[in-house]
Amino acid sequence: MSCLNIAIVGATGAVGQELIKILEERKFPVNNLSLFASEKSEGRNFKFKGSEISVRKLDYFDFKKTDLVFFAAKPFLSKTFLPEIIRANITTIDKSSTYRMEKNVPLVVPGVNEESIGNATHIATPNCTTIQLVLVLQPIIKWGVESLEIFSYQAVSGTGMSALNEYLNQCRQFVDNKEVTNEVYPYRIFDNILPHIGRFDEQGFSDEERKLENETKKIFDLQEIKIFATCIRVPVSRGHSIVVSLKTTKPASINDIISEWKKSIYLEVADDPESNIYPMPMNVACKDLVQVGRLRQTFNSNSFQFLCCGDNLRVGAALNAVRIAEYLLKIRF
Ligand SMILES: NC(=O)c1ccc[n+]([C@@H]2O[C@H](COP(=O)([O-])OP(=O)(O)OC[C@H]3O[C@@H](n4cnc5c(N)ncnc54)[C@H](OP(=O)(O)O)[C@@H]3O)[C@@H](O)[C@H]2O)c1
Repeated sequence: MSCLNIAIVGATGAVGQELIKILEERKFPVNNLSLFASEKSEGRNFKFKGSEISVRKLDYFDFKKTDLVFFAAKPFLSKTFLPEIIRANITTIDKSSTYRMEKNVPLVVPGVNEESIGNATHIATPNCTTIQLVLVLQPIIKWGVESLEIFSYQAVSGTGMSALNEYLNQCRQFVDNKEVTNEVYPYRIFDNILPHIGRFDEQGFSDEERKLENETKKIFDLQEIKIFATCIRVPVSRGHSIVVSLKTTKPASINDIISEWKKSIYLEVADDPESNIYPMPMNVACKDLVQVGRLRQTFNSNSFQFLCCGDNLRVGAALNAVRIAEYLLKIRF
C-alpha cells in the first residue's frame, strides 16, 4: 500500500480538525501532511502522529508533489483555488458544495455509490444531512422510494467553527446574566430554533432543503423520487437529527426494514422506545455510526416514519471524505 502526500485545505475549521484526527485514528498511510488555512492561522501548530505541523497560507502553494487534497474550506474558496488543482490532475476530495451537482463530478458516499468514482480525480462529498440520509435509505432502497418528506434538526457546528463558538458563547452569556449577542445567524440560536439554513429561493426553499433534494436524487441516480425537505437549525453543538416520512413503491413491514438496517455496518438500530432507546444527537456525537429508530408504519404498508441521527462533522463530513480516500487506496494508489 502506498504512503501518500496529503494536503488539507481548511485545516483549522470544524471539518479540517476532524480530518486530522480521523486520518490518525484510522492509521491512514500518510507520508507527508500539509495543512492550509487563511493568513490569520499561519503558524498555528497541530499534532499529527506525534509531530507538530504548522499551518500555511494557501495562496502560493504548489500542489504538484501532493497525491491527495482534502478541500474543506468555504465554497467561494473552491471556486478560486480548486480549478488549478483539478487541472493538475491531483486527486481532490471536495467537501464544499460548489461542484457537487456537476455531471462529471461524482458525488460519493462509500457504502452507497463509491463505484461512481471511476477514473475521476475531482470527487465531491455531499452535504452532511444528505450523507446520513442516504446511508439509512441504502439498505431499504430495494422496496423502491416513491417519496420522502424530511424534517432535519441540524447542529450549529454544521455552519462551522464560528457558529459553534458563537453558540457556546451565547450559553455563557446567558449563565452570566449578560446580553446574548449574535453575528453568525440572524437571531440567537441559544434557547431558540431557526427554520433557516442557507439562502431562500423564489419558491421559499432554503439552500439546504434544495441540497438534500438534489443530492439524494443524484446519489441514487433516481430523479423521479419526490422529496420535500424542511431544515431547521437547533441549539445542539454536534449531531444532526432527521425525521423521515418514507413512501415505498412496494409494501414492506417494520421487521423487514429493521432487519435490513441491522445488517448495515454504517448503522446502529436504536428502536426500543419503552426502554428509552431511540436515536439522539448525544448518542452519536464523535461517533461513526448513524443511529436509526422510532420506526412506525403510518397509513399503510407502503408508508413509514423514522428518526435518524449522525455526527455531522464525522459521518456527515470528514469521515465520509476519509472513507473515500480509503476506497481510492484500494483502487488507485
Ligand atoms: N461543518 C459541517 O458539518 C460540514 C459538513 C459537510 C460539509 N461541510 C463543508 O465543509 C467545508 C468546511 O466547513 P467547516 O464547517 O469546516 O467551516 P469552518 O469551520 O468555517 O472552516 C473554514 C476553513 O476554511 C479556512 N479558510 C478561510 N479562508 C481561507 C483562505 N482565504 N484560504 C485558505 N483557507 C481559508 C479557514 O481558515 P481560518 O481558520 O484561518 O479562517 C478554516 O480552516 C465547507 O465547504 C462546508 O460547507 C461542512
